[in-house]
Amino acid sequence: MLDKIKHMLAEVEALQAATAEEAEALRVKYLSKKGDITALMNDFRSVPADMKKQVGIAINELKNRATERINELKASFATTDTDTDGIDITRTAYPIPLGTRHPLTIVRNEIIDIFSRLGFSLAEGPEVEDDWHVFSSMNFADDHPARDMQDTFFVESHPDIILRTHTSSVQARVMEHQQPPIRVICPGRVYRNEAISARAHCFFHQVEGLYIDRDVSFTDLKQVLLLFAKEMFGEDTRIRLRPSYFPFTEPSAEMDISCNICGGKGCGFCKHTGWVEILGCGMVDPNVLALNGIDPTQYKGYAFGMGVERITNLKYQVKDLRMFSENDLRFLQEFTAAN
Ligand code: PHE
Repeated sequence: MLDKIKHMLAEVEALQAATAEEAEALRVKYLSKKGDITALMNDFRSVPADMKKQVGIAINELKNRATERINELKASFATTDTDTDGIDITRTAYPIPLGTRHPLTIVRNEIIDIFSRLGFSLAEGPEVEDDWHVFSSMNFADDHPARDMQDTFFVESHPDIILRTHTSSVQARVMEHQQPPIRVICPGRVYRNEAISARAHCFFHQVEGLYIDRDVSFTDLKQVLLLFAKEMFGEDTRIRLRPSYFPFTEPSAEMDISCNICGGKGCGFCKHTGWVEILGCGMVDPNVLALNGIDPTQYKGYAFGMGVERITNLKYQVKDLRMFSENDLRFLQEFTAAN
């Protein structure tokens, strides 16, 4: 037996392989369950007691050398790949953590998607605006309270330049360059001089809609908004319009949807009314058409504007507005699945 082991040891020391496959075949030949060395170990039982120690040591040495030699051969094939400038191209890559979309982006895209399917195209305008586009062209009287220092951020050296307080300014920018039919939605960030709290922020996001053509009616507006509410919050969603006031629309309304958290039964979120407000809307005031170069005797239109934060809160029940701008990964990563 000792001879046999010695013989095999010499054989193992001289092993050669031309490819990784050949090296693997050698491992199978010597070291697998049915391999030669395993067979020797199985024969160990029949070795006389006084020889057991010596034979045991020899077999172990043979096994270790065979493992070493075969690993050496295998490694030599692996390293031929890695000789490229010392970079190990065979190493497993680090997992790259994928980013997630911001919840407000997810919801804004969903709103855009719904209105795109209804034939609305996209329009954008600047966040730093002039008084004309934000207020005057939108039929705000000179002494309208919305121009007040309380609400609007002014650029100190240029009293005429402000941060837009609503995306209605983009309506004016579109009408400047385009005659009806006009059918646009305008997403964007707006600014208001408010104390920051869980319920208010000095900036937030809106999506504005504007539709101008001949024979546009309030019914068209209502139908489009009902469809939007159902697409956004589910088929069972109901809407209600309450009379309201905006300088740029007449008549004006605020739209509520049946509370999608309690299904309209009444809960803390809807202050037990079953309804939550989501947007302002109305028929474009003829003054606005005239101010922006569109003939009000020929054309009519409707407009609406909604807060993206508000819709997002309703969809995902985010209780504190500040979460949206704190860049807390624990919050942002909750929206991975919604991508
Ligand atoms: N601009 C209004 C606001 O910011 C919303 C609105 C847009 C209302 C268009 C009516 C029509 O509150």
